[in-house]
Amino acid sequence: MDPATLLAWHIAMGADEAIDVDPIDRFTTEVPVATRPLARPASPSKPQTQSGPRRVAAKPVQAVVGAGPEAATKVAAEAKSLDDLKSAMEAFDGGLLKRSAKNTVFADGNPAAPLMIIGEAPGADEDREGKPFVGVSGQLLDKILKAAGFNRQDNAYITNMVPWRPLGNATPDGATIAMCMPFVKRHIELVKPKVILMVGGVSAKALLNTEEGITRLRGKWKDLDISGQKIAALPVYHPAYLLRQPHLKGHAWRDILSAKRKLETL
Ligand code: URA
Repeated sequence: MDPATLLAWHIAMGADEAIDVDPIDRFTTEVPVATRPLARPASPSKPQTQSGPRRVAAKPVQAVVGAGPEAATKVAAEAKSLDDLKSAMEAFDGGLLKRSAKNTVFADGNPAAPLMIIGEAPGADEDREGKPFVGVSGQLLDKILKAAGFNRQDNAYITNMVPWRPLGNATPDGATIAMCMPFVKRHIELVKPKVILMVGGVSAKALLNTEEGITRLRGKWKDLDISGQKIAALPVYHPAYLLRQPHLKGHAWRDILSAKRKLETL
């Protein structure tokens, strides 16, 4: 197969990211027999023989999901400021996810803002620029915020549940969310917002610890308990969803006005 066709095939299969600088020929990489996960268990009657392509050991789970929630909890608790937290997240072993991302996308906006917005995870634009919500859905988010008098410079602060771009823009899985949650909670503790917008189903479900979908959750105020402190939080549609379902944009205007009114009462 010529290289261009092979590359097109890889992209079609979803391998659309370069995750290492040097190529690895996984058909010739030597892996000890004992660590070959795909090798059949040796039959007592038949000695194990090596034939066909060499099998390659899968990465251990820890290497994929990173140092895990316990390590994240410890590291996050030690952060005494947002700068500390940012440095800790940049230094943290976020596993394959972090290794494949260009940037740890920490936050954007005014950390003294009363409104904190928590999205899902960076996309390609955010990963490139190192800031949350800077692509097309970010532009829609900015418009929605502006409609109620919010902006990043003055009174809004934006972050994500996951600071590293998932490969192929996949929805972050439970292990990834669990690993990142201690950072998000510490982030909230340090920012001390009056109101939180949980943008999209991933953020709402994770922070509310529920399996309910965003269609049911959106527009209904909840209290988040962050280290004993109750913070008013509103699940809202993700702007990427609104771009696909423009007839739902009316909900977004209603929700942001609801957030504005909530802040006026606090
Ligand atoms: N979608 C998100 O949830 N967050 C971003 O930062 C960008 C797109």
